Amino acid sequence: IQYQKGVIHLCDTGIKNVPNKYILPVYERPGEKKVDKCNIKLPVIDFAEMQGPNRSQVVKSLAKACEEFGFFQVTNHGIPHDILHELEDVVRRFFEMPFEERAKFMSTDMRAPVRYGTSFNQNKDGVFCWRDFLKLTCHPLSEVLPSWPSSPVDFRQAMLLYSKKTNMMFQTLMNAVLESLGLDSTTENDDEEDILKQCEEGSQLMVANCYPTCPEPDLTLGMPPHSDYGFLTLLLQGEAEGLQIQHKGKWLIVKPLANSFVVNVGDHLEIFSNGRYKSVLHRVLVNSKRTRISVASLHSLSFSTTVRPSPKLIDEKNPRLYKDTDFASFMEYVSSCEPKEKNFLESRK
Ligand code: SIN
Ligand code: FE2
Repeated sequence: IQYQKGVIHLCDTGIKNVPNKYILPVYERPGEKKVDKCNIKLPVIDFAEMQGPNRSQVVKSLAKACEEFGFFQVTNHGIPHDILHELEDVVRRFFEMPFEERAKFMSTDMRAPVRYGTSFNQNKDGVFCWRDFLKLTCHPLSEVLPSWPSSPVDFRQAMLLYSKKTNMMFQTLMNAVLESLGLDSTTENDDEEDILKQCEEGSQLMVANCYPTCPEPDLTLGMPPHSDYGFLTLLLQGEAEGLQIQHKGKWLIVKPLANSFVVNVGDHLEIFSNGRYKSVLHRVLVNSKRTRISVASLHSLSFSTTVRPSPKLIDEKNPRLYKDTDFASFMEYVSSCEPKEKNFLESRK
C-alpha cells in the first residue's frame, strides 16, 4: 500500500493536501486551542557543573526537573559540537537517498536490529502520523553493526561514534539520577551498584526521525502523544521546533537550544523510582516550512532484566505502586495492540 512507503515518498509525489489517512479527529488535532502553541523553558542541567564542586546543587535541580517536568535540557555535555552536526547531516542525507535505498531496511519484524518505517506503529495505526524513521539497535554492537546502513558512506561511523558518546552520557546521568533519589552507592553489592551495572550492560536504541514539511500541519501530528519505555531518552532535536510536552494539562513547545540535549524520564525510571519521577507524555508537531530531523537515543536495562521499584523507595508512607516488568513485555505489548498514550505503564500498576 502507498502509505506504507512513508511520508517522504508521499511528499515526493507532489501532494498539495494532507491525505485522509493522516487527518486526525478534530479533538486530537494540534493547535485547537491557542494555549497549545505556548513555549516552555525546561530546567537546564549543566553537565560539566554536575561533575564539579557544585554537584549537590545540580543533583537537586535534577530531582526537581524529574519530579515536576519529567524533562530537562543538558548543556556543557562535552560531546564536541562537530560530532552532533555531522550526525544530523548524515541522518539528513540518509533520508534524502532514493526510496529504494531506504526501503532495503523496511521490516515487519519489530525486533529487527535495523528497521525503517513510517508513522508510529504502521501495522496498527488507524490514522497515520507524519513521520518516517530509522531504528537502530546498538546491542550487542559487534553483532548488529554489520547490518546498519552502509550508505551514505559515513553513516555507520558517525552513528557508531554518536551512540558511544550518548551511552557514556547516559551512564553519567544515571549515576546522578540515583544520587538524586537518595540512593548513594557507598556499600558494595548495593541496589544502585546493581542498577548501574545493569545500565552499563543495558540496551540502547537509536531512532532517527524525519518529519517532512507538511502542507496542512494543523490536521496531523509527527508523533502522537506517548511516553518512552526506558530509563532515559537523550534527544537531539536540531533547530526546527516541533516537540511538545504535556505539563499541567497543557501542551507546551520545547524550544530548541543549540547543541544541547533534551532528556526525559521513561516508564522504566518512573517504575524504578516508584512514581517519584514521571514519564511524561510528549508529541511532535509538523510544520509547512522546513523538514525536521531528530535523533533519539533510548536507554534501558537489557531485554530480559526485571525492572521493579527500588526497595529503598518503598515504605509505609510510600507503598509499592508498580508490578515487575521488562523490555520484553513492552515489546509484546507494542506488537499486540495500538499503543495509546501511557497504556503500557498503566497496565503495570
Ligand atoms: C520522540 O518522542 O521520541 C521524538 C521526539 C522528537 O522528534 O522531537
Ligand atoms: Fe518519545
